[in-house]
Amino acid sequence: MAHPADSEAEHQNTVLVIVGGSMAAVKAPSVLRRLRGGGVKVNVIATRAALAFITELSLSTAADGPVGTDEAWFSPRPDALHLTLAKADAAVIVGASAELLAGAAHGHASDLAQATLLSVPGPVLWVPAMNAAMWRNPAVQANVQRLREWGHHFLGPEVGAFGTRGEGAGIGRMAGPEDIAAAALKLLEPALPPESEGRDLEGLKVVVSAGPTREYLDPVRFISNPSSGKMGFAVAQDARDRGAEVVLVTGPVNLPGPPGMAVVRIGSALELRDAVIQAAHDADIVVMTAAVADYRAAEPAGEKQAKVAGDVSIHLTPNPDILAELGRDRGGRVLVGFAMETHAGVERAAAKAARKNADFILLNYPTQAGTAFGGDDNQVTLVRADGSHEDWPRTSKRVVARRLLDEALRVHVQRTAG
Ligand code: CTP
Repeated sequence: MAHPADSEAEHQNTVLVIVGGSMAAVKAPSVLRRLRGGGVKVNVIATRAALAFITELSLSTAADGPVGTDEAWFSPRPDALHLTLAKADAAVIVGASAELLAGAAHGHASDLAQATLLSVPGPVLWVPAMNAAMWRNPAVQANVQRLREWGHHFLGPEVGAFGTRGEGAGIGRMAGPEDIAAAALKLLEPALPPESEGRDLEGLKVVVSAGPTREYLDPVRFISNPSSGKMGFAVAQDARDRGAEVVLVTGPVNLPGPPGMAVVRIGSALELRDAVIQAAHDADIVVMTAAVADYRAAEPAGEKQAKVAGDVSIHLTPNPDILAELGRDRGGRVLVGFAMETHAGVERAAAKAARKNADFILLNYPTQAGTAFGGDDNQVTLVRADGSHEDWPRTSKRVVARRLLDEALRVHVQRTAG
């Protein structure tokens, strides 16, 4: 089946990385490696000032290709180097100096970096690094303001110590390589198709569970977890936008029920089980993002329990495993689970997929900042029962949702064809 994702796969995105003259230039190779690890091609320019802090060789090794320099620009060559390097889907300026900001804010083209920036068609991300006093200077702030008004993006600078002699303290430290690469990759995210297009789930029923469950010990106390529900809501919304009939079964979360779908609000794992099993009997795809409490109180108290002197213990009993129950009688349905692991992630997730008879599990890492619990981004690995797996780059939960449904649809098409 033709699918919008197919055409995206053919185009390899290119990011132009301009390295500015700052101590932070030494972090540029790490940014380059992370971008390439995220599946993009990089074009690199080092300003004259950058080359005082880092060698061309370190940059070209990390970039796996030549580095654009003023020397190369002014040498005889068959192409206009600034136009060749500007063929990029986005630009990121690592270690952006006051000089680079001023040049861009005033349309200067006196070196390769500035001339290329004037020609880049895609979004531009500035990652400044400079002394706190310079950053606060009104001239610098006016240039930043001007660039923001033109739609340029900024990451940082951050507050913290920097520089070799402790001369830098306060605001001015550059963001870390991981955050820079993640922000640059985010600029490349495809716009989601408008509602009238890409209705490739038309005629299918998708059931999604989201959020935590609450297992009450007494009327006012419960066992739960910090799941925000964002991942499941993103899956439900994407399925709806692609034309599916959607049932979203959610535990207590701080999100409004999205329009255009049936929203069932539940509290405990037992309630979640009943609602999911009922909705799933005629479903084509079931996605379990819910963070189900594994145990509930064996005998919840009918009245609020007053404290007693000394230790107390609570008798817990296991909750039913909903995904495993669906898997025991999978039929033609595509079953997708999520798993959080802190160690041996792929092996444990593959074993989980096999045990629960899920088609695949998206594995995420609770220890990563900005992802998983509560964050807007997620970094997941798709793991199948046979152990085959794919690392997906860190991206928004919306895009993870879309890729998840792309994969679920592929499995559905294969299963119904075969
Ligand atoms: N799940 C479920 N019912 C449960 C527990 C989990 O349907 N009672 C689903 C989750 O929604 C998720 C997947 O199973 O999609 C994996 O959940 P996880 O808690 O990691 O699995 P467990 O079997 O509880 O594994 P562990 O032993 O690591 O806790």
